[in-house]
Amino acid sequence: MTLAGKKIVIIGGSSGIGLETAALALEQGAEVVIASRSADKLRQAHNTLGSSVSAYELDMADEQAVKEFMTRDVKRLDHLVVTAAQTWSGPFLATETSKARELFDSKFWGQYYAAKHAAPLLAEGGSITLFSGLVAFKPMAGAASLGAVNAAVASLGQTLALELAPLRVNVVSPGIIDTPSRAGMDDAARSAFYESVAARLPVKRVGQPGDVAQSVLYLLHNSFVTGTVLHVDGGHLLT
Ligand SMILES: NC(=O)c1ccc[n+]([C@@H]2O[C@H](COP(=O)([O-])OP(=O)(O)OC[C@H]3O[C@@H](n4cnc5c(N)ncnc54)[C@H](OP(=O)(O)O)[C@@H]3O)[C@@H](O)[C@H]2O)c1
Repeated sequence: MTLAGKKIVIIGGSSGIGLETAALALEQGAEVVIASRSADKLRQAHNTLGSSVSAYELDMADEQAVKEFMTRDVKRLDHLVVTAAQTWSGPFLATETSKARELFDSKFWGQYYAAKHAAPLLAEGGSITLFSGLVAFKPMAGAASLGAVNAAVASLGQTLALELAPLRVNVVSPGIIDTPSRAGMDDAARSAFYESVAARLPVKRVGQPGDVAQSVLYLLHNSFVTGTVLHVDGGHLLT
């Protein structure tokens, strides 16, 4: 498998699943562009991935910034992957509505803007990969807003697969993956959470970023796959 000659743009490529996807795409010879908000994270990712990667500061919740990034910096691309999101969970009644709106601004509208402004620049045979998540398909108390955002992204992706055809559009729905997204948790609490999830899963472990990155690469390569929601969750939906 090779991605030689292909340009892959990964919004969210400075951490977790996006960073691992960038590393795999580079291994396969792609030209890789990563973008996220924090200059610090981008610098670290650049050090990890090597100097051939282009890194841009971008807040994908800002439509004008996304439009300028695509038209001025990216110009043309073969594949767009959007792993970026800032998410949280919390009890429905006790959470300010503005917090739920922020979640949509980040994970839904950010992916919407990215798809909208990248689509006209995508080469023939190109694709878009968006990110949903487990709690859309396995509802969890305390994750009403996140579940709704993830469901909205899945629906957006499937409709765009029809509307933007023959460009392909797919959606990845990760289960519990050990990424820096839980860096804010106390170490002991995070380990206990991962252990309790692992014990319930058929595969008896939580996911690693590489598990999901491999699935993204599959979606980039397989020209017969579009409009799919690919669950990469260690069997979590069965539990
Ligand atoms: N990890 C899990 O267990 C899990 C489970 C279900 C679904 N998912 C989904 O999988 C995707 C990837 O998650 P991950 O665990 O790899 O997360 P992560 O390690 O926290 O990485 C998220 C990336 O998104 C960037 N980002 C956040 N907000 C952004 C914005 N407004 N504009 C541009 N970049 C932004 C972050 O960098 P900056 O801070 O520099 O912007 C970072 O590079 C997300 O959609 C997440 O919801 C993850």
